[in-house]
Amino acid sequence: MDSKQRVHMNQGQGGTSYARNSSIQSAEQNRMKPLIEVAIADLCSNSNTLLPRKMVIADLGCSSGPNAVTLVSIAVEAIHNHFLQFQQPPPEVCVLLNDLPDNDFNMVAKSLVVLHQTDEPVCVTGIVPGSFYERLFPSGSLHLVCSSNSLHWLSQAPEDLRLNHISAYDINEHVRRERLLVVAEAYARQFRKDFTLFLELRAKELVPKGRMVVSLAGRRSDQLVNEISHVWGTEVEILGIMASEGVIDKAKFGSFYVPAYGPSAKELRLIIEEEGSFSITEMRVHDPTSGMDSTLLTPNRIANGLRAAFEPIIVQHFGSSGEVMDEFVRTAEKHFNLQRSSQVKHTQSPRVMLVASLTKA
Ligand SMILES: C[S@@+](CC[C@H](N)C(=O)[O-])C[C@H]1O[C@@H](n2cnc3c(N)ncnc32)[C@H](O)[C@@H]1O
Repeated sequence: MDSKQRVHMNQGQGGTSYARNSSIQSAEQNRMKPLIEVAIADLCSNSNTLLPRKMVIADLGCSSGPNAVTLVSIAVEAIHNHFLQFQQPPPEVCVLLNDLPDNDFNMVAKSLVVLHQTDEPVCVTGIVPGSFYERLFPSGSLHLVCSSNSLHWLSQAPEDLRLNHISAYDINEHVRRERLLVVAEAYARQFRKDFTLFLELRAKELVPKGRMVVSLAGRRSDQLVNEISHVWGTEVEILGIMASEGVIDKAKFGSFYVPAYGPSAKELRLIIEEEGSFSITEMRVHDPTSGMDSTLLTPNRIANGLRAAFEPIIVQHFGSSGEVMDEFVRTAEKHFNLQRSSQVKHTQSPRVMLVASLTKA
């Protein structure tokens, strides 16, 4: 399997696009709003940070559709409000949006127009294709880095699993359970390596006292060995059902790895502390769907949300057609309907969203 999976979301604005199927992620962006506002207020009150009078803001893993500009719009509005309150002219703002090169940047470019619609602050925009596990910006050039729903994506699936042909999710339950610890530890090691690198790179690119507000999928429990807490558990379970029904190739299913990992809050905190470039200003743990309108959480909508996020890597690995992805949605819907009618719905989700607000030391 290609180690560099194309993890971008479904492009365009059609029925299966990320743009039309990202309301759960949008809810998380709204929960990040107060932390971004506080970070902006801190940056604006620190006159050293803003000399000369300009501010550079980047969103990493912006994807496409309305969510691509949400975080940077929150930041620009917060800058505007801060300086209005003190009756001072705001600094000029540069907004940079990043994602992997396969992202739908044509659509992102069109969305950026909304940021030019106000005169104050003066706002210039740019697009920076590339991996956030590489250098993206000049040294000491950024004031605020935001990222929502993206940093659980790894640079690659754990190499030791791939090279040793250890399936991440064996259809055979007994084998799967026996391997759970090996698989979970390999994923945890890859996340630690990737997130540490991410912190090192951003520390180089931020100004002194620069800020980061990031959210990523995580798990509620500190325990590593809990298969349903994997951020990709549901998607792979659905593919497992499809493999056992012969809809997708069983052998190919055995070599399918989702390059994503959800740490616990404690695990994330430890990695940040050990890397040492940032102090933790605030950390929050959210239920992924808390406060959401229940009409946005029907089995069909959730299944389509999974399709929008996972179709590119599923198609890349299985070479599947649109019909297979339609079957994926049907199987997922059935799975969620069953969950709803069973007791599972009454238990707390093992998955959470983690938000960290960090200040460069
Ligand atoms: C679930 S989307 C989140 C999009 C948007 N920020 C939101 O909150 O709705 C995750 C995004 O992260 C991007 N991504 C994953 N790995 C990346 C990497 N190494 N560098 C840059 N972007 C990455 C994906 O391409 C995808 O667009």
